[in-house]
Amino acid sequence: MADALKIGVAGLGTVGASLVRIISERHDNLAVSCGRAITVTAVSARDRTKDRGVDVSTATWYDDPVAMAREADIDVLVELIGGARGAAKDAVNAALARGIHVVTANKALLAADGVELAAKAEEQGVLLNFEAAVAGGIPVIKAIRESLTGNAMTRVYGIMNGTCNYILTRMEKEGLSFEDCLKEAQRLGYAEADPSFDINGNDTAHKLAILTSLAFGCRISSDDIYLEGISNITQDDIRAAAELGYRIKLLGVAQRTGSGIEQRVHPTMVPHDTVIAQVDGVTNAVAIESDILGDLLMVGPGAGGDATASAVLGDIADIAKSRPGAQTVPALGRPAKSLEPYKRARMRSHEGGYFIRMRVADRIGVIAAIARRMADNQISLESIVQHSTNGESDDAPTKTIIMVTHATTELSVRNAVTAMESDGYIVGKPQVIRIEKP
Ligand code: HSE
Repeated sequence: MADALKIGVAGLGTVGASLVRIISERHDNLAVSCGRAITVTAVSARDRTKDRGVDVSTATWYDDPVAMAREADIDVLVELIGGARGAAKDAVNAALARGIHVVTANKALLAADGVELAAKAEEQGVLLNFEAAVAGGIPVIKAIRESLTGNAMTRVYGIMNGTCNYILTRMEKEGLSFEDCLKEAQRLGYAEADPSFDINGNDTAHKLAILTSLAFGCRISSDDIYLEGISNITQDDIRAAAELGYRIKLLGVAQRTGSGIEQRVHPTMVPHDTVIAQVDGVTNAVAIESDILGDLLMVGPGAGGDATASAVLGDIADIAKSRPGAQTVPALGRPAKSLEPYKRARMRSHEGGYFIRMRVADRIGVIAAIARRMADNQISLESIVQHSTNGESDDAPTKTIIMVTHATTELSVRNAVTAMESDGYIVGKPQVIRIEKP
């Protein structure tokens, strides 16, 4: 049997601790599957005294992960620190500069510097593996990068943030408040260190940027993503969606259009009877539409220690099975220098259906005025419903209007909403949610 593969784990949080435990528990099976043992020979974390429920006493301890990446006796750096800058970035760069393989779950780092890091790995002839960076334990990177080679992709989309899906599901099913659901997601170890990255959509955007590059063979461009988080979603939206036959999910969508590639992250209405609408809790789902295979939907655990560690372990196993000097798989599916520049399709050209919910003054002519604004902007309505609005007995009477449009453009909807706001019958801020059809 070949020598053991020596790994250094930087970061012993939920995922790092799960990984160390699983490698220890499955040592013999991994050795048989990979043709060599996998051994954790170095670890690094902030607090040496903390009890993580795993034994790291046989590994060399480093307070500084960058020093570990530079000096430790390891074949692979496993980076589980997170964050686009600082120690995570420095440790990954140090490992690549030294010519050792890197496995990372760090979507923020890849979204910012993935192309440069991929180029460095290629120069050094080492692997940069990052299955755990997108959709937790779902093997979506490998599917797009390797299994679907040769397919032309048209759209990649999905639920890629377990925290948001967990919050939306519990808000809908149990009527809980946004804040309580978020606290529970944090307690369960799903949320980012700064949970605003989850709820504002940044985490989904990082993951989407990586998938876009893999799917469309272009450079990563996370700054070009249209972004809206879930903090404005209310029980009223969830109820209205249910009445109309939809559920609300935070989706990341990358789509090839006539004018370029559209990348967007926003709360989305998905038809209730679709598989993706039924994906609940921390579960993620990624749909890939391609020309040879057709439609593929991958569903599975999207966050949490063991699920993410499973993806990290798969990446480590690939390195253990690779042979020195053999050709390596380019990290982004094709050599970094042959990635196309990213051509952005403007969000205002986005085409699709829209849900619009607004509170309006209950007076003669309001519905007629709304209909006029819709017609002025070439928007055809699929449905319009009026509800009584409760709880404002001292105020002027209002009604809630809920509209669903047929396919139109973002620009038309923005113009129509601005025009209706200027008409003076809207109370508060209208809610606009895009509809995505599989
Ligand atoms: N905070 C992330 C999520 C963890 O909730 O999906 C996995 O990337």
